[in-house]
Amino acid sequence: MLSKYPDYRIINLDKLTYAGNLKNLVDVEKSPNYVFVKADICDARKIKSVFEEYQISDVIHLAAESHVDRSIEGPMEFVMTNVVGTVNLLQIAKDFWKGEDGHIFHHVSTDEVYGSLGDEGLFEETTAYDPRSPYSSSKASSDHFVRAFYHTYNFPIKISNCSNNYGSHQFPEKLIPLMINNIVKKKPLPIYGKGENIRDWLWVNDHASAIDTIFHKGRIGEAYNVGGLNEWTNIDLVKYLCRILDDKLGREKGENEKLITYVQDRAGHDMRYAIDASKIEKELNWKPSLEFEEGLDKTVDWYLENSDWIEEVTSGSYQDYYDKMYENR
Ligand code: TYD
Repeated sequence: MLSKYPDYRIINLDKLTYAGNLKNLVDVEKSPNYVFVKADICDARKIKSVFEEYQISDVIHLAAESHVDRSIEGPMEFVMTNVVGTVNLLQIAKDFWKGEDGHIFHHVSTDEVYGSLGDEGLFEETTAYDPRSPYSSSKASSDHFVRAFYHTYNFPIKISNCSNNYGSHQFPEKLIPLMINNIVKKKPLPIYGKGENIRDWLWVNDHASAIDTIFHKGRIGEAYNVGGLNEWTNIDLVKYLCRILDDKLGREKGENEKLITYVQDRAGHDMRYAIDASKIEKELNWKPSLEFEEGLDKTVDWYLENSDWIEEVTSGSYQDYYDKMYENR
């Protein structure tokens, strides 16, 4: 957005928790129209001062605790950031914009609010909410508050619900970067349950272009599903990663697959997520730009070329997290 809209001033506000890292922002930190603010969206006084200092005209709200396993271990952090933080932002933006026209509050959410699918069907924007993990419950709650502000105060919102993202800079607790990192280090590849759960994978750059499209062209008060039309079982995906990394790391064919280890399933593990993205395609002319295999190839290359980044983000408390998460599985 910084290069596409040079007359925008973009204020990037982040709490920089365990998954945030200023190194992810080196490419933009010198842009003249860019400002970084370290803050917590639950901190009302600080957020109000940011609105005033920078005269915030619009919000794209992506701040959230996002990892399901962590939400199972400790749900309260998810209630605080995802629910309380969102309502705090809504309230401050509403007070600051005073009902004037021309503002947008774009809330970025997840397809997990719709629950879990069986073999058939896709999540549509009209699918009833049925969240099943502490994480998805907190996101569903925040979506409800965003809609409530639209209906109650005529506050100008848009919502997007996306499927699983993958790409560069993703913290290696999520399936794809975790598996790449473990393959490189020849560590076990923990597959929850039988590995038959299905996710619909979306390249993060395509998600970013969908947010840009919805923010600029989507209708106020509407929600748009964003998906990759790209369903994979976890086990097929991990085996595919093993194969491409056999090749890229110059290992014997089949060597990486030997690292696959079936572990105890995640509690309440949702079976299948899959998005019907026809609304954004028909209304806003957005489609994913990359085939999954191409996106995955770029992603694997990024992780191989950025081993310093991996070392940095997995040093410190990461190993404690990893040991705790996997010791009893
Ligand atoms: P994840 O990346 O945590 O995303 P989400 O739970 O939000 O979909 O997990 C993606 C899938 O991979 C999910 O079905 C759980 C599974 N999984 C494993 O089998 N092993 C792992 O080590 C991780 C992190 C996830």
